[in-house]
Parts: sequence; structure tokens; C-alpha cells
Amino acid sequence: MIPWRSWSWLIGKQCQAIGFSFSDNLLILEQAPLLFVSKQIQHALNLPALFTTETVKDAVTSIRRPFITFVLGGPGSGKGTQCARIASAFGVAHLSAGDLLREEISSKSTNGELIRSIIKEGKIVPSEITVNLIHKAIKSSTADKFLIDGFPRSEENRIAFERIVSFLIGVEPDLVLFFDCPEEEMVKRVLGRNQGRIDDNIETIKKRLKVFEKLNLPVISYYSAKGKVHKISAKGSVDEIFEKVHQLFSSLKEANGFA
Ligand code: C5P
Ligand code: MG
Repeated sequence: MIPWRSWSWLIGKQCQAIGFSFSDNLLILEQAPLLFVSKQIQHALNLPALFTTETVKDAVTSIRRPFITFVLGGPGSGKGTQCARIASAFGVAHLSAGDLLREEISSKSTNGELIRSIIKEGKIVPSEITVNLIHKAIKSSTADKFLIDGFPRSEENRIAFERIVSFLIGVEPDLVLFFDCPEEEMVKRVLGRNQGRIDDNIETIKKRLKVFEKLNLPVISYYSAKGKVHKISAKGSVDEIFEKVHQLFSSLKEANGFA
């Protein structure tokens, strides 16, 4: 029998080798020691299964995980504006995938130029890049509730999130908020917002709307089928829309896991 301390050293080494930081795993080990036999580590260590899937599942569900809301909607549907209001009213951390990507451009990081050219074309940035930025932001935050705004934008985004982040927080979001807005209203808002963005022009908006329909709507359907989607009509003023959002989050506050 290998003593626990040697196990943890070995696991630390293996975690590094497979791209997990050991602190993630310490966090998990602290709360659910059996997790060290999670599939990835077991595989990396080439171990036979020491525990049944059920035991590992029990350990996973005993972890106190953050409450995750994905916030979706077309360009100009009001995701960012409403998220800012939710964040200040309910103390939820707001992570905008688009903002994280734009920060990469302005910080002139290695991927900055690539991200800039993709955003300018209204296309989707490789999922690995976006998911790693979100992962980093979740890990460095002390919050226990997150709004992830503008993500997942595609099935590929969704699957990458499951693969990379699920180890920390579980596979599924708790809620998917969908701001449903007519196209002509979205175009009007984007052209009128004047934030100096390279993608807020009529040519790019047309492309973004097509990408939304082709790649993002299937993600919304996927979560709809799982009963996770809460659709909010995004017509009307910011205050009118927020009234509906406020009702939803007030009711969540009473529910388990959010208060
Ligand atoms: O959400 P937002 O409108 O700020 O996104 C701006 C652009 O950032 C998108 O049109 C897309 O090019 C890129 N993006 C992405 N993947 C995401 C979110 C945004 O590629 N998950
Ligand atoms: Mg936004």
C-alpha cells in the first residue's frame, strides 16, 4: 500500500503533466479525497479502478460547486447590460467571454492578433482559447456565483467547456438565460452603441447574426431539451427587461444553491 503522502506527490506530478494545476486538485482533494481517482488522473497514472463510478460520482456531488449561469442572445440583445445589473443587484460575478477576448487583444498577448482578426470577421475564436480564459477567471475569483456572458457560442465551445472546466465545477450550468430579441432591434442597438468596437459595423453584424443562428441557436436548443433555458423577451427598455430578470433571480435566491 502506497502511503497517502506519496500518493499526493505522485498525483501532483501527474496533474502537472496532464495540465491541471496542483492547487485545483488540492482544492478538490480537501473536499472530496476520493476524487483523486477521477478518470483523468486514473488514466494518467495508468491505474486500475480503485473505486466504482458511483463512489466517485458521490464524491463529485459532495463538492461545493459554484452556481453557473450561461447568458446567451444575439449581438445587441442586451446580455452585457443586463449582466451588469444582475451583478450589482445579486452579487454575482460577471464574466464576459467577449470582454475577456478583447482584453487579450489589448494586452497584446500571443493570441491577440489571431483573436482580433476572428472578431473582426464575426467568427468564433478557437474554443481552447476562450475556455482557458474563462477557466482562469473562475479560478482567480472568490465568488461562488457566476454569469458567463456570451458563452458557449457553439457546440464546440460547449464541449470544450465540459472537457476543461467540468473537473472544477461539473459539466452542466445551473441555468441558461436567453435574451430573445428581433434581428432589426439588435442591428439598431449595435449600430447605435458607439463603443469603438471593430465588429460593430453593418458588414460584421450581418455575419455575427448568421453565426448566431447557425452555431449558437443549437446550443440553446441543447439546453432547452434539458429544461435549463429561461427565455426572456429582450424587447423594451433596459428597466423593463431587468424587471423580468429581477423576478427570476429573486426566485432563485430562495432556491437551493443560489442564496
Ligand atoms: O459577446 P460579444 O458580442 O462581446 O462577442 C464579440 C465577439 O467575440 C464575437 O462576435 C466573437 O467573434 C467573439 N467571441 C467568441 N466566442 C465567444 C464569445 C465571443 O469567439 N464565446
Ligand atoms: Mg457583450
